[in-house]
Amino acid sequence: MINSTSQEQNLLHIPVMLPEVLEYINPQIGGIYIDGTIGAGGHAKSIIGEPSSSRRIIGLDRDAEALEICKKQFGASAHFLTTHRTSYHRFPAILNELGLRNVNGILLDLGLSSMQLNSDSRGFAFESNGELDMRFNKESGQTASDIINHSTEEELANIIFNFGDERYSRKISYNIKNMKKMTTVADLKEAIRRSTPPHKRKKSLARVFQALRIAVNSELDKLELFLSSFIDYLTINGRVVIISYHSIEDRMVKHAFRALKNNQRLKPLTKKPIIPTKIEQESNSRSRSAKLRAAERTL
Ligand SMILES: C[S@@+](CC[C@H](N)C(=O)[O-])C[C@H]1O[C@@H](n2cnc3c(N)ncnc32)[C@H](O)[C@@H]1O
Repeated sequence: MINSTSQEQNLLHIPVMLPEVLEYINPQIGGIYIDGTIGAGGHAKSIIGEPSSSRRIIGLDRDAEALEICKKQFGASAHFLTTHRTSYHRFPAILNELGLRNVNGILLDLGLSSMQLNSDSRGFAFESNGELDMRFNKESGQTASDIINHSTEEELANIIFNFGDERYSRKISYNIKNMKKMTTVADLKEAIRRSTPPHKRKKSLARVFQALRIAVNSELDKLELFLSSFIDYLTINGRVVIISYHSIEDRMVKHAFRALKNNQRLKPLTKKPIIPTKIEQESNSRSRSAKLRAAERTL
């Protein structure tokens, strides 16, 4: 019989590009690090390393359930960790609360975790059966069904096209707005089924769900706010590592790093984004769209 702990382990998120994250974060003895999207804490626990390294992690996540799982995973190393339920772009306020001015490194691993994707009640996955929620923070903001029901057909088509790059965006939006109700994952899937040819449907489903999740959580706005301020909170030689899963996010990171390089404040460490090895892509399908960029503060 499978007990609940081993079931939890099976569903647990596998950290993406772990060796590459460690190489680029380059954890220092006694260093302080922010994991802005800590999730289950897979990357963070490896950054902490041996207790003798005396490192500290400030872990942020919008999802209270993720923070609970993370604390459990840290176990005996929990005293090297503080967790904070907030969006990563608000990290300066957390540093202020903790009486800190800067940190040796910041990691962002954007997107969503396997626990969120595998949950039947969160509405992130088109394979799930629940309500159309999709909020990282289940206690605030509009759900996906709120956004759908409060948008015009044109606004909805623009969300699906801009954040999902979906060519059937107008037809999908028309069918969504003309269905009697749109409150569950099954309702949305039905609208997409009515709008797309069968051989293209799986990709359309993935794109529409991704687009709505990005809109629900204002993901691009948060990344923009982070990119405009993080540099001031890194020590000189401090590192920033960002893993993104969407071409718009990767472009935003690239442009922000380039602008800071032009001001002589940052040295990009990755000329081109690093992608997972073939072995990782084959063993962890979630990693396939990942792109990692890293940089070091110079001034
Ligand atoms: C890909 S998972 C991180 C997995 C983690 N690196 C690990 O090894 O377990 C992304 C996490 O970021 C969180 N998240 C998404 N947007 C966020 C934001 N604006 N601020 C803080 N956390 C966010 C999600 O709730 C999710 O837990």
